[in-house]
Amino acid sequence: MKSEVKIWSPATVANLNVGFDTLGCALAAPGEIMKLKRIDDPGRVVINCIEGADLDLNPENNVASVAAKSLLNSLGNPCGIEIEIQKTILPGSGIGSSASSAAAAVVGVNELLQAELRLDELIPFALDGEFLASGARHADNIAPAIMGGLVLCPPQGAFHVLPVPPNWHIVILHPQVPVRTLEAREVLPVHVSLAAAVEQSAWLGSFVASCFEGDGASAALALKDLYIGPYRSALIPHFDSIREIAMERGARAGGISGSGPSTFWIALNSDDAQSIAEGIQAFMSNTDIDYRLYSTQIAPKGAHLIQ
Ligand code: HSE
Repeated sequence: MKSEVKIWSPATVANLNVGFDTLGCALAAPGEIMKLKRIDDPGRVVINCIEGADLDLNPENNVASVAAKSLLNSLGNPCGIEIEIQKTILPGSGIGSSASSAAAAVVGVNELLQAELRLDELIPFALDGEFLASGARHADNIAPAIMGGLVLCPPQGAFHVLPVPPNWHIVILHPQVPVRTLEAREVLPVHVSLAAAVEQSAWLGSFVASCFEGDGASAALALKDLYIGPYRSALIPHFDSIREIAMERGARAGGISGSGPSTFWIALNSDDAQSIAEGIQAFMSNTDIDYRLYSTQIAPKGAHLIQ
């Protein structure tokens, strides 16, 4: 066993318009850092400090400690663990703040205890933490945060790491207005029409095929959101204006990241990505909403040891 580890864990975009609760990707930026230290108190998990966000230090109420405890317990509680969290992804961001913490926690415990679980084996423990935040056990943020890349999470069976569409550049706008996942799920329809379900599943199929064909333009073209975005866009400040700016400046697709308020915009080259980011920045700086803007790509690696 090691005595201390330091983990970097990525933000993620879930849903990607075509795969509600089933598709997500890891981002090269932003990401956050967690330190885990072994303590001589078997089974005990404590949070020492959280920098960058006003979150509960009570280990029963924090996704990282709940996830860490779940894995530690399954490994027979050989020690206790002290956690320090440096948050850069604010809770309620739509880019997987809680998933990033839960992923860092389980990858950290796996490293600390040198347990050598496979990455996909860590997912259920991270989901125990994520459940606290979203009230559901969907892995579309957790799976890419742990496994990296672009991951499809079918209702049963193995997770599929898909080939990353080539030339994808992703601009993320995070308006600093929290949207709670639980509330963003409540605005969604309980039933959808058969016609919409057929069309949406065809777009998801086309997206997956395009990924395997290595066709980044077709993969972006397939990102059509028939029954999630239309209901959630009212929760996102200036969604229609941002969309118009992004598409005018070369975005091939885009939409709401996870449950919002972040949005993602896909460009096929770095010049278009820069132009999209500049246009969004110019627009947002004339509003009274604080925001963060990231120009990034899909990260091939999920949460991992950095020290
Ligand atoms: N798939 C989830 C949702 C992601 O959109 O509600 C948010 O955690």
